[in-house]
Amino acid sequence: MSKPLQPSRWALTLGAAFAVQFSSGAFAQAPAPDAAQQRAAQLVSQMTLDEKIGMVFGYFGTEFQGKKPPTDALAQSAGYLKGIERLKITPQWLTDAGIGVASQPGKQVRERTSLPSGIATAATWNPALAFQGGAMIGKEARLSGFNVMLGGSVNLAREPRNGRNFEYTGEDPLLAGIMAGEQIRGVQSNSVVSTIKHFAYNDQETGRNHVNVKIEDVAGRMSDLLAFQIAIERGNPGSVMCSYNRVNGPYACEHAHLLNKVLKGDWGFKGYVMSDWGATHSTIPAALHGLDQQSGYPFDKSPYFDGALKEAVQNGHVPEARLNDMVKRILWAMAANGVLDKPVRDEPNRIDYAAHGRISQLDAEEGIVLLKNENQVLPLAGKLKRIVLIGGHANKGVLSGGGSAQVYPRGGLAVPNEGPKQWPGPMAYLPGSPMKALAARSKAQLTYHDGKDAAAAAKAASGADVVLVFATQWTAEGQDAPSLSLPNSQDALIAAVARANPRTVVVLQTGTPVTMPWIDSVAGVVQAWYPGTNGGEAIARVLSGEVDASGRLPQTFPASENQLPRPKLDGVELPKESRFDVDYNIEGAAVGYKWFDLKGHKPLFAFGHGLSYTSFALTSLKAEPVAGSIRVDFSVANSGARAGKAVPQVYVARVGGGWEAPKRLGGWDKLALKPGETRASTVTVDPRTLAVFDGASNSWKIAAGEYRVILATAADAPVLETTVRLPAREFAAGAR
Ligand code: BGC
Repeated sequence: MSKPLQPSRWALTLGAAFAVQFSSGAFAQAPAPDAAQQRAAQLVSQMTLDEKIGMVFGYFGTEFQGKKPPTDALAQSAGYLKGIERLKITPQWLTDAGIGVASQPGKQVRERTSLPSGIATAATWNPALAFQGGAMIGKEARLSGFNVMLGGSVNLAREPRNGRNFEYTGEDPLLAGIMAGEQIRGVQSNSVVSTIKHFAYNDQETGRNHVNVKIEDVAGRMSDLLAFQIAIERGNPGSVMCSYNRVNGPYACEHAHLLNKVLKGDWGFKGYVMSDWGATHSTIPAALHGLDQQSGYPFDKSPYFDGALKEAVQNGHVPEARLNDMVKRILWAMAANGVLDKPVRDEPNRIDYAAHGRISQLDAEEGIVLLKNENQVLPLAGKLKRIVLIGGHANKGVLSGGGSAQVYPRGGLAVPNEGPKQWPGPMAYLPGSPMKALAARSKAQLTYHDGKDAAAAAKAASGADVVLVFATQWTAEGQDAPSLSLPNSQDALIAAVARANPRTVVVLQTGTPVTMPWIDSVAGVVQAWYPGTNGGEAIARVLSGEVDASGRLPQTFPASENQLPRPKLDGVELPKESRFDVDYNIEGAAVGYKWFDLKGHKPLFAFGHGLSYTSFALTSLKAEPVAGSIRVDFSVANSGARAGKAVPQVYVARVGGGWEAPKRLGGWDKLALKPGETRASTVTVDPRTLAVFDGASNSWKIAAGEYRVILATAADAPVLETTVRLPAREFAAGAR
């Protein structure tokens, strides 16, 4: 048995939450250090103070405001930290991000494979695809000379206008956490450290550097924090990136409760906390309250974790044991993931771009959501003679989201000079046009109209067998969508085209939900998100029916902004550096469909919605209590004439209420079925979706009583229902 660690003398002198963690017995119960922790501790014991500081002080990989990175940083990259040659510790080379190897704008952008956006991957409801995509981009990171990838983006889509929703995995903590966790696991399968970000509540870009999020901890544990908790359990990322915003007062990167108590204490996170670029605001509070590494220091007001941290250690304001802990955590992540043993090399000519493009395409195909399909306008029939495509540069390429996650395509941008000249521009269209991909699959005559003049577009559309309007909404980091409306008068364009030809299908490439004032006048709507490399092929394959439409919405599409907890986005009218509050206590844990259920709002399209080209029958629902949760069994049959993929969803509801909202997603399955095929499915409900977090005991509590188990095809489409009686159960904040 290992000897329990005693709280050290210095712990008693620290800030409250840090001291609590080190003196409340959390360490006494901590498991014995694993091999990577032992190795990290051994390395730290051999380091000088300067060497330790070098491990926690991050450079930006790109010149910024006259501050140049060290010479062995990789061009136009996100970050760099020095190594220690005498101890064979590699430098840390950091790259964005969630959809592939990104580049900061400039002359030397890397051209790499781009996955569809995070929200598209979430829309597949297929964790295996998330893993596969993560493994692919992690491999490209390694072959591009990077050993830390800044992905794993899991902020909850609490605010549908958030300009970064495209990077995230939707509004439900279970779906978001599982999909992001699988992607992280995939990235790290290449001996590359992945982050998870942005911890926490960085749910809007407006005022992101100073906005103060007001939220009760209990509500957070059952929503935003739960998404992180689940993703960390599944993905085991080496690092957590703390966010720009403040939470109930303090900045997230010096937040004792979030970092020391919840993350490192309750959840037992062994890795390190790195700041977002420009999110470090101090030396001593940040170090004592849980930040382990300052990133991209030129973005901060000061190089807080360089000379200032050294001095704070020397004069005892930051105990050296705490600096050792920071470095050990970083080395643990590197050792546990093989980064210390498998050096990375910048050799992109070894990347198999064709194979990687196919992986991205599979992801895009399963993420495309068929929202509306009247009179079987889709899939496009073989006998069509004339198809008119309108707008969205559908003759050139597909759209991607902007900001630090931007992956530049091979062969250059399909449409040059679009969008802002400055970051978060450019507005990047990836080559591979949907029109060309459709032409390869159709005997019809295809013509393209740019859609700039609505009347002319309507004229071009009239008389066509089918009209495909490619509507776009470019969203990007650092700015929110001004509203949920499609920009650039596209609503008027669609309305005019649909008036001229009722066989109009709208193909949306958006980062987040949009409203559809024209919905009743079009025959079909397809949500293609930002579909990544080979996205044109993916769109064409779904439109033509070569593959089923099997994506389902990971986010509610509101009918109007008046249905939102905050009909108006907070902070939009304020000057840039303003400090203001955003009140997430309005909805608490009732995010997305939970809010809509609670308020009785009817959305435009519900969470979980998505049509297929075939039909499915759900039968034989059974549910029983097992090991502190519920096991759900049912059958799924393909009752139509085409092969397809079903996404049966299990929602749970407590009889008698007491939850933030009437029901929660408890689990789901995704099954490929041939016509006539029937398969059995088993879903085990995540016990946290049956529980309420109790702040007083710091634990999850499942109340004894009756629970409804609802088998559905969307949050608003129940099919079968049964009830289960559960005994009371209590489990620790970090358990399940
Ligand atoms: C973003 C992070 C990103 C970092 C490094 C920041 O602006 O918020 O998501 O990883 O830059 O590029």
